[in-house]
Amino acid sequence: MARILITSALPYINGIKHLGNLAGSMLPADVYARFQRARGHEVLALCATDEHGTPAELAAAAAGQDVRAYCDEQHALQKRVGEGFGLSWDWFGRSSSPQNRVLTQHFCEVLEKNGLIEERTDKMIYSVADGRFLPDRYVEGICPICAFPHARGDQCDNCGSLLDPLDLKEPYSAISGSRELEVRETRHLYLLQSKLAGRIRAWVDERSAAWPPLTRSIAYKHLDEGLIDRGITRDLSWGVPVAKGGKPRPGFEDKVFYVWFDAPIEYFAVAQEWGEATGNDWARWWRTDQGADDVRYVEFMGKDNVAFHTVSFPATVLGSDEPWKTVDSLKSFNWLNWYGGKFSTSSRRGVFMDAALELLPADYWRWYLTANAPESADSPFTWEHFQNTVNSDLANVLGNFVNRILKFAETRFEGVVPAGGEPGELEARLFKDIGAGLEALTASLDGMSFRKAAQDVRDLWVIGNGYLTEAAPWTAIKTDPERAAMIVRTGLNLACLFGRVSTPFIPFAAASIACAFEGGDGAPWPQADGAAELSRLALGSKVAAPPVLFAKIEDAQVAEWTERFGGADTVQP
Ligand code: MF3
Ligand code: ZN
Repeated sequence: MARILITSALPYINGIKHLGNLAGSMLPADVYARFQRARGHEVLALCATDEHGTPAELAAAAAGQDVRAYCDEQHALQKRVGEGFGLSWDWFGRSSSPQNRVLTQHFCEVLEKNGLIEERTDKMIYSVADGRFLPDRYVEGICPICAFPHARGDQCDNCGSLLDPLDLKEPYSAISGSRELEVRETRHLYLLQSKLAGRIRAWVDERSAAWPPLTRSIAYKHLDEGLIDRGITRDLSWGVPVAKGGKPRPGFEDKVFYVWFDAPIEYFAVAQEWGEATGNDWARWWRTDQGADDVRYVEFMGKDNVAFHTVSFPATVLGSDEPWKTVDSLKSFNWLNWYGGKFSTSSRRGVFMDAALELLPADYWRWYLTANAPESADSPFTWEHFQNTVNSDLANVLGNFVNRILKFAETRFEGVVPAGGEPGELEARLFKDIGAGLEALTASLDGMSFRKAAQDVRDLWVIGNGYLTEAAPWTAIKTDPERAAMIVRTGLNLACLFGRVSTPFIPFAAASIACAFEGGDGAPWPQADGAAELSRLALGSKVAAPPVLFAKIEDAQVAEWTERFGGADTVQP
């Protein structure tokens, strides 16, 4: 039995996440966690809200709330929606926790002790009307390159040029619109990544053999561009205070750590939160001097997060010289798009997790988003594609199979697993096909190839349907009851097996299938042995058809949802 630690990118606190966020981080992490648990491994699945930074402050202000109260509320909401999707975290913590504050301050102290922190003076734009320094992307103005009137201080959306906010012409605050801006000097702490470049590259060289191409290419792109020293503090009030020796650091009383400095440290802190709340030992998962050496650590995230996790955060950890566990496998994803464009939190474009659950049960979404995971390329969400996938895979193939065989067993075999008959040629072929299919599925899940894994599990369902159609127990029963019993017994075993292998993908339906069989739950992940896996159910044990597993999505629903959420025509160029 292995120990597997699983995390995903920590969702920002400012608002419920959209399906694109879910598809590229939290959902695959959960599919993988459920699979590894089913195989009997010891799994610790952790997640948390990423609560600091300017966006959180602004979202709270827009909601007319104190930022702490806003975060309390949003955390509870995200937790509830995540659980509604069946995300089976061992703990869902908060980067604003006391544990994270202590650890973040601790990391800064050891980095400084190791000669990797320096105070520097920066020139930053201060907005008098807003009473705050403006982060680059909150300064807007005329692009010095293309004269686009609303270029952001970090980048011009019109010509794509990377900008410095000080270069914008006629700049104004994106928060208030005020033009009363001043350039002020401000002191900040810098993490001297340039000194760590060699160590980070050596670490990436060692680890990246096990990383998928997308992860590897992003990591090396950033290393090759050259690591520059990174400001790790900000002029803000909401965040982890910059402290030294337990007291505010002189000159930094009004500053906090940059959100990208403290957020990944929350991966450790959330384990502490979990450990303290449940009486578990967190250190054996994270400290290589306390048993974490044989943990396999697997992370899931969208491609925009990869540089932070392969370069910036390793700089913090390696620079500390402390024995923290670092990532082994890092599975990254492209974007799930909303039709041709982007899902967008700020412009509320697309379907968000809470709204999705109001339309349909979690499994419908889980299945679609896993079967179409944006793995090798961006992939578009459309209502029509969603409808087709759900109707053909879940309703027609899986749901129909389970229903057909269980109803038949209820009406013709008194709702028990019948004895009698011997496997014949059809069964021999079935056992072989199912065995091979199980082997493929297990390998895909183990290799975190989610689209392929969904295809593999669907192939198993299709094999089952084909078998039942060909074996035709409803005909056999008229002439050869022994043969019919054999077929029905095999069909019931197939249905029960389908529940087991579907658990990582569609856990709610899988539980409902398990309930259809006396003693049907609790079986371990199947071995690649069709004959053995299809003769597990005890002869004479009870079976009962579950309520309809999946309702088909009707055209009228698609029309209504397209109207309500927008579709192709709402996408901005
Ligand atoms: N909140 C960030 C995002 O959604 C991810 C933070 S991951 C962490 O892009 F490692 F920094 F926590
Ligand atoms: Zn421009």
